[in-house]
Amino acid sequence: MTEITPIALFDSGYGGLTILDAVRRLMSEYDYIYLGDNARAPYGTRSFDIVYKYTKEAVVRLFDMGAPLIVLACNTASAKALRNIQQCDLPTLDASRRVLGVIRPSVEAVGSVTQSRVVGIMGTQGTVDSMSYPIEIHKINPDIRVFQQACPMWVPLVENGEYDKPGADYFVRKYVDELMSQSADIDTIILACTHFPLLRKKIEACLPANVTLLCQGDIVARSLKDYLQRHTEMQSRLTKGGSVRFYTTENPEKFGSMARLFFDGDIQISHL
Ligand code: DGL
Repeated sequence: MTEITPIALFDSGYGGLTILDAVRRLMSEYDYIYLGDNARAPYGTRSFDIVYKYTKEAVVRLFDMGAPLIVLACNTASAKALRNIQQCDLPTLDASRRVLGVIRPSVEAVGSVTQSRVVGIMGTQGTVDSMSYPIEIHKINPDIRVFQQACPMWVPLVENGEYDKPGADYFVRKYVDELMSQSADIDTIILACTHFPLLRKKIEACLPANVTLLCQGDIVARSLKDYLQRHTEMQSRLTKGGSVRFYTTENPEKFGSMARLFFDGDIQISHL
């Protein structure tokens, strides 16, 4: 097997596939590896210490697999583990490698979308409790009012393949209504969990027509492309074979049926 130095994407489960899909559409030339920790999902209800521990384990494995650049394609891990990994772990693990998250690019995008300057955040309990979004949005746009809604039932709906079934409708409506009842002025919502775009159609069906729903795939893809253009030393380390390889801590067959929603052709999935 030829040595590859891929871009790695990590999520607690299937959600990061929505990011990988957008990243590959924009930059199909690179090699990619994707790790879903499906056996331990969801992360959104877990403590800071556990999310940090699991995420760090994943980062170490992905470094061992040759990735010089990892995207935490997970808001919960970005909120609870990214800062520690960047500041405390990277210097000892390998200071020349990089771990990026999904919150910063999303926050940078929202200011140019909202007209009413009232923004809604829909995420896991962990992401909401971390207050990462309000804090980061206010650093860039102090005038924006931010309302948050935790949606703890949405990740299990996706992880269990129920996201497009009629049973999902109740919980989609419930959290959308709970968010919109906090402020009728919300005109932009960030789907601040990478699993949620799989529920997009159902979410949009519950929203007033004037509300813009921001999914993170394209935002993160553009931001990653920009990062690589600015960091040529990283770009030149990455191999460009156009391959993508999947790893899951759970059942590869089950993972395959979800991955096939996004990727055609021969999909290679291994258990880790
Ligand atoms: N997809 C993840 C996120 O963006 C986490 C979902 C979970 O495991 O709870 O937050």
